[in-house]
Amino acid sequence: MAYFFFKLIRVERKSLGYNRVTMLLISHITNGMAFKKKRRSTNMLSKKMQDALNKQINAELYSGYLYLSMSAYYHSINLPGFANWMYVQMLEEQAHAQILFNHVTDRGGRVILAPIAGPQTDWKNPEEPIADAYAHEIKVTAMINDLVKLAMDEKDFASNAMLQWFVTEQVEEEKNPSDILQQLKLMGNAPGALFMVDRQLATRVFVMPAILAGQQGGGPAA
Ligand SMILES: [Fe+2]
Ligand SMILES: [Fe+2]
Repeated sequence: MAYFFFKLIRVERKSLGYNRVTMLLISHITNGMAFKKKRRSTNMLSKKMQDALNKQINAELYSGYLYLSMSAYYHSINLPGFANWMYVQMLEEQAHAQILFNHVTDRGGRVILAPIAGPQTDWKNPEEPIADAYAHEIKVTAMINDLVKLAMDEKDFASNAMLQWFVTEQVEEEKNPSDILQQLKLMGNAPGALFMVDRQLATRVFVMPAILAGQQGGGPAA
């Protein structure tokens, strides 16, 4: 680019003079700027917060990928109810990523999507993915808490307010797999126990979080 300007200046100096060169440079720069999104001067996301939220978008998408992999495992061992539960869990994770995506965009930030790591693909028994999901959600809660702390340190009240939704959500995210685990432990090796839990988990349906209502197209708030 620098070489291009240098050449341009040399050519223009010969034929048009300095004023014309200056006008050309200004018009080139302003034309380029016209394609960039207009950023608001107040309430704009800091680079540090933006990077941290982009990292969390990746973590939520990874969670969804992990649960989809668990869903595939359950299908492979003929437990369609467990598979459904994990599929709905994947849809929830996508919604979580979208909430963060919308917040970054609404605040004049830039979402940068990174590669999603490959999830585990096999488990020893039907209980193991639920135990792993529980352990995974405990880790996600710690990530959310770190984000809240960063928002507080940065005095980013808008991010803090948005993240409070996740703080509440994580209570349920930990409770759900923990409840299923307890149920499986209580039933032990009773005949038909897995079949009964499978039928119960088949009833789970995805409910779009209210925070995304009216934004199903994936776009930020109008
Ligand atoms: Fe999540
Ligand atoms: Fe989750």
